[in-house]
Parts: sequence; structure tokens; C-alpha cells
Amino acid sequence: MSHKPLLATVLGERQTRPPVWIMRQAGRYLPEYRQTRALARDFLDLCYTPDLAVEVSLQPLRRFDLDAAIMFSDILVVPDALGQKVRFEQGEGPILEPVTEETIGALKPERALAHLAPMFETLSRLRAELADDKTLIGFCGSPWTVATYMIGGRGSTDQAAARLFALRHPEAFAALMDVLVATSIDYLVGQFEAGADVVQLFESWALNLDDAAFETQVIAPNRRIVEGVRARVPNAPIIGFPRGAAGNLARYAAGTGVNALGLDYATPLDFAAQHLPAGLTVQGNLDPLRLVAGGAQMDERVDAIIAALADRPHIFNLGHGIVPETPIEHVARLIERVKAG
Ligand code: CP3
Repeated sequence: MSHKPLLATVLGERQTRPPVWIMRQAGRYLPEYRQTRALARDFLDLCYTPDLAVEVSLQPLRRFDLDAAIMFSDILVVPDALGQKVRFEQGEGPILEPVTEETIGALKPERALAHLAPMFETLSRLRAELADDKTLIGFCGSPWTVATYMIGGRGSTDQAAARLFALRHPEAFAALMDVLVATSIDYLVGQFEAGADVVQLFESWALNLDDAAFETQVIAPNRRIVEGVRARVPNAPIIGFPRGAAGNLARYAAGTGVNALGLDYATPLDFAAQHLPAGLTVQGNLDPLRLVAGGAQMDERVDAIIAALADRPHIFNLGHGIVPETPIEHVARLIERVKAG
């Protein structure tokens, strides 16, 4: 049996030094990413072309001593696979033709899995290329986060369109969540079958919800996904990243049954010690802007994070995705610092 430190940590084994990966580790801060990206017609084409997606997934591992590769794709390939119009505008982010009460019924879950076949090919090729000690991570967006884009048509700071839709049209909203839960289960099971060791549920918009809405919109659908995946892939290792969950974090961990909890950078370091079950794996949580600025403040914070989480299984990561202006030398220094001890 090969030993994968990052997978072992998700499963609850504490390491002497935390294994490390970086959210959005393949991306625009790397010149080789920008070069490969230019070969694709557009961003979605990059995601759907295994030759290119495998290449960009491996690029960060050629430069840095990372413990995992993450399949290159995006959370919005799921609405695309369901037949919603999705495009990515340079500098604007994603733009979708918003779903309405009337059009939710026209989504096409029956064709989604076939549409996502290129992602399974990307994963199986990555599996074949990766060294034995590297963990392969798959992912999807959590239903609420994906729904905020499907309903709002683009990113927003308050998710008002989706929050109002859920309140005004509870039945249509529930139908949309059902489609996303079922499709996500099929998608993640397919990812495990294609060679993923672990999957992460990206709930990037777990903020701005009262505790009742947090229960129905975040905890319940994520729990259905965890249970649905594990019914078909026994003991499937799953990381949940509910960004902005704040006071709802402990409830999220207990209610969803994920193996590991991703902490955003606003989560206080003593939170884990005070509020999370001993032995629960945590991941995080350096502010990506500390990595942009670099220097002594970054080193000190890296040391503080590692020290504060030393008594439980910990995977080092940022508290949100790496940003394009990040200097590559800072990333190299970060990884060395985490590994050095
Ligand atoms: O981590 C990785 O390296 C895997 C790849 C990955 C991407 N997106 C590639 C990407 C992953 C895991 C995601 C997840 C994702 N996508 C999330 C959840 C995580 C988070 O950051 O909160 C969300 C909300 C999205 C939706 C999305 N995709 C947005 C809002 C944007 C535009 C913002 C931006 O950074 O430009 C994207 C585009 C996107 N997804 C890029 C990359 C590398 C940049 C597109 C480009 O190359 O032009």
C-alpha cells in the first residue's frame, strides 16, 4: 500500500508536518497556465479538453512540493451540463442565463453525466501520471453556491436574488436543489470511479444566511450529498468548505458528516480548539493576501496556524483561492515553510 499523507490526514491521521495544497493552485498566477489557457477557445473549453486540463492540473506540482493535485475544472460545469447557458467573460467572471420558476423544469439532469465525461477522463489520466504519494482531489460546488449563480446569473456580494427566490418560490427552489443534489452525487461517484482519492464540496457562499436558511440551504443538501455518495462509495473521504459559515461551522461539521472541515481565513485559530470535536480534520486557513504580500508577516502567520492546529489532523491551505497577482516566489517560500518544521 502506498502512503498518501494528505489522504491519510483527511481520514483523521495527524502528521508531524501538515500536508499542503492550495485552493485554485492551477491558475493565472502561473505563466505556464496563461500559456495553456491561450490554446483553448475559452475557459469552458479548457475545462472540457482533457489534454489541456491534465496539463494545467500538473503545472503547480512541477514547481512546488505540493501533496495533492486537484482536477482542473470549475463548479459551473454542472449548470452547463444541465443545459443552462454559461459563459466566462474575461475580467467579468461567469455569466449565466438566469433560471426562473418556469425554466427549472426544463433542466436536463438525464444528460448531465454524459456531458461531464471529459472530467472523468482528466481524473483517470491524472491518476496514471501522479506519483504514489500524491493525493488526487475531485470536487463540485455545493447546491446552494451553484444555485446562487444559476438564479442570480452572476456572482454577487449578497446573493440577494437567490435568497429572495428561495423565500418567494420555495417549491421551485426545492426542485432546483433536488436536481443539484442528485447530479452532484452522480458526478462525485463518477469522480471516485475515475480515480479521485478525496473530493471537496465548495460552499463558497455559506455566508449571509440566517440559521434556519443555513440548515435548509447548506447543511441539509450537503448531508444528502455525503450520504448519497457514501451509499455508493463506502467511506468516501470528503472535505467540506463552507466559506463564511462562521457561527454555523460546528453545526455544519456535525450535520453534514464530512471528514474534514475547510476553514476560511476569517475563522479564528482558537475556534477549532474551542468548538470542534477533537480529532476532526481541519484545512486552512492563510489569508491569500498574506501570500501576495509575503515576507515576515506571512512566515509568522504560517507558523501561528501550524502551531494552533498542531493537536489535530491538519491540512495546510489558504482560507480561499489564490489570486492572480500572487508572486510565484512567495508560493515557493510558503510551501518550504510548511514543510520545514
Ligand atoms: O483549485 C484548482 O486549481 C481547480 C480549479 C478550480 C477553478 N475554479 C478554476 C478556475 C476550482 C476548484 C474552482 C472552483 C470555483 N469556481 C468556485 C469555488 C471556489 C471559490 O473560489 O470560491 C467558484 C465560486 C467558481 C466560479 C468561478 N469560476 C468564478 C467566480 C470565476 C471568475 C473569477 C476568477 O477568478 O476569474 C471562475 C473562473 C475560474 N475558475 C478561473 C480558474 C482558474 C479563472 C478563469 C481564467 O483562467 O480566465
